[in-house]
Amino acid sequence: MKSRWATLLLLCCCCLGHGVARTWPRSHQREAAALRESLNRHRYLNSFSHDNSTAFYGLNQFSYLSPEEFKALYLGSKPAWSPRYPAAGQTPIPNVSLPLRFDWRDKHVVNQVRNQKMCGGCWAFSVVSAIESTCAIQGKPLDYLSVQQVIDCSFNNYGCSGGSPLSALSWLNETQVKLVEDSEYPFKAENGLCRYFPQSQSGVSIKDFSAYDFSGQEDEMAKALLSFGPLVVIVDAVSWQDYLGGVIQHHCSSGEANHAVLITGFDKTGNTPYWIVHNSWGNSWGIEGYAHVKMGDNVCGIADSVSAVFV
Ligand SMILES: *[C@@H]1O[C@H](CO)[C@@H](O)[C@H](O)[C@H]1NC(C)=O
Ligand SMILES: *[C@@H]1O[C@H](CO)[C@@H](O)[C@H](O)[C@H]1NC(C)=O
Ligand SMILES: *[C@@H]1O[C@H](CO)[C@@H](O)[C@H](O)[C@H]1NC(C)=O
Repeated sequence: MKSRWATLLLLCCCCLGHGVARTWPRSHQREAAALRESLNRHRYLNSFSHDNSTAFYGLNQFSYLSPEEFKALYLGSKPAWSPRYPAAGQTPIPNVSLPLRFDWRDKHVVNQVRNQKMCGGCWAFSVVSAIESTCAIQGKPLDYLSVQQVIDCSFNNYGCSGGSPLSALSWLNETQVKLVEDSEYPFKAENGLCRYFPQSQSGVSIKDFSAYDFSGQEDEMAKALLSFGPLVVIVDAVSWQDYLGGVIQHHCSSGEANHAVLITGFDKTGNTPYWIVHNSWGNSWGIEGYAHVKMGDNVCGIADSVSAVFV
């Protein structure tokens, strides 16, 4: 146990960028206190396990942060102040028949999980990943597009201090901004000045988007996923700080959205059907960067605000 703690403390030092040093003056005592608090929390979270599919919680890269720090640094989705569900242009969902399991990753149209680092830009990551996949579903190459461009240029959001995927989608739809390749405008994990590109610059602009409230209708949501591509959703991710694997079904509320992620698929083959959720906390978090969230009960508010993008 002692050596695991040591490794973890070391890990913390490595990932403490100067950005966070400014915001959160840290000390070893403070990290040790956060770790002790994490261990208590894990014991509580794991006491709910009833069957072998239930999520389990424990030490990971976030264990040295207090819940308050974790929330401030990583949970950057803010509610949209543009209409939540724009009445105009809500694309009807085709009545397709649902397989027991479906994952867009199997079609090779989902990029690798990214790492937002100390930037509360989940709202931009989820939207850009959805656009990348939607392009690939249409037969274009699966490219990495610039998240930094959305963070810097989406003026109706707060960059690394947070934002709303719906506001970002409205901005992309209204301005018809072309998203350039990630290599043209790489991720810096901090706010920067918006860079503009000439009209001739190649890039991707979106044609439209639709926002839905699927609470109580997660089968409809699965049909939307099948018909339109990966879906951008906002969730309550407070308990995700400690997530290691399994299906999240407790410790998560609806109506408390604070994080934006991408759903790439679902699996109904086991006892507990679940959504397959692509996060932006690197691939060492959760199940190689993914989480499984129970389907059908609006767990974590996953069905409350769902967006599909069209390119
Ligand atoms: C989990 O439990 C179910 C039935 O309760 C069983 O069929 C399944 O094999 C178990 N899975 C694992 C990974 O132990
Ligand atoms: C969708 O299709 C199924 C079977 O194909 C049918 O039973 C059902 O009534 C259809 N639902 C709607 C809303 O059309
Ligand atoms: C997106 O833009 C198009 C073209 O301006 C517009 O017709 C459509 O209503 C917009 N979609 C949403 C959801 O606002």
